[in-house]
Amino acid sequence: MKLLVICLGNICRSPMGEGALRARLAASSLAGRVEVDSAGTSGWHRGQAPDPRAIACAARHGVDIAGLRARPLQHKDFRHFDYILCADARNLDDARVLAPPDAHDRAVLWLPWAGIAGASEVPDPWYGDEADFEHSWALLDAAAQATVQRLADTVESGIIGP
Ligand code: 4NP
Repeated sequence: MKLLVICLGNICRSPMGEGALRARLAASSLAGRVEVDSAGTSGWHRGQAPDPRAIACAARHGVDIAGLRARPLQHKDFRHFDYILCADARNLDDARVLAPPDAHDRAVLWLPWAGIAGASEVPDPWYGDEADFEHSWALLDAAAQATVQRLADTVESGIIGP
């Protein structure tokens, strides 16, 4: 299984989502069996480390994302990844523009796909403060936890192989 987390800049939400997902996977029965990456629908921050506020937020939760580097989403990602997990509806629309017609459904809105109730989008904390980063982290980590549970259940039921 291969998962790609998407946001606009790939310096706030998606690197935090990638970090949360990596940490939740590492602590699960799926450790070492799921590939995770992140990308942005824009290439504005290509090659850059996550925003210092995102690095600090992840670190408060015991997750190190300082080594990640931003990259733009590419057409070929739709061939490589099973799911393109989008932070908000605009990201989903923008991602689908790049999708080959037969891979359109691989791009999903992450929170509802993971079964999170109450919120469908992870708000962009870029113009916000520490509390906004914490709110985004909480949603991303809830999605990461629910995703790991969903995949673990699917593997256990024999629907997908290891
Ligand atoms: P992200 O946040 O999509 O969560 O990485 C943003 C980062 C940068 C910008 C917008 C959103 N920007 O306008 O440069």
